[in-house]
Amino acid sequence: MKQAWIVIWGIALSGGIGCAGLGEQIYHKCSRCHGADGLQSAYGKTRSIAGMPAEQVAQDLRAYRAGTLDRYGLGHIMHVRLDDRKIRAVSAYIEALRHP
Ligand code: HEC
Repeated sequence: MKQAWIVIWGIALSGGIGCAGLGEQIYHKCSRCHGADGLQSAYGKTRSIAGMPAEQVAQDLRAYRAGTLDRYGLGHIMHVRLDDRKIRAVSAYIEALRHP
């Protein structure tokens, strides 16, 4: 019985099993350069991406995937290999990150 409660609590804390969980999982790969909270400037070039509107993030990621975006001359570093569903999930996660 006690174990069942721990499982339920765990699901509640992770925000459910749906898109939010997936977005967080994907973002782990991004945090190396953009910071765990999305506030870090990657290579001292990018803006902090925390709270960036999801639609804008998704648009950028699709452009990096297509190889058509090179905003600071470092576009080749953004190796995006995500399908559209994963792009939507991680974009929603980034929009939900807030500046302190
Ligand atoms: C190896 C380091 C690295 C990783 C990992 C990485 N990025 Fe980036 N990111 C960069 C760099 C460098 C740029 C700037 C590229 C350019 O010149 O346009 C960038 C640009 C961006 C931008 C545009 C920021 C701006 O200022 O306009 C977004 C949004 C972004 N990354 C999101 C992500 C997401 C989401 C992930 C994970 C799926 C990710 N990045 C993983 C290094 C990284």
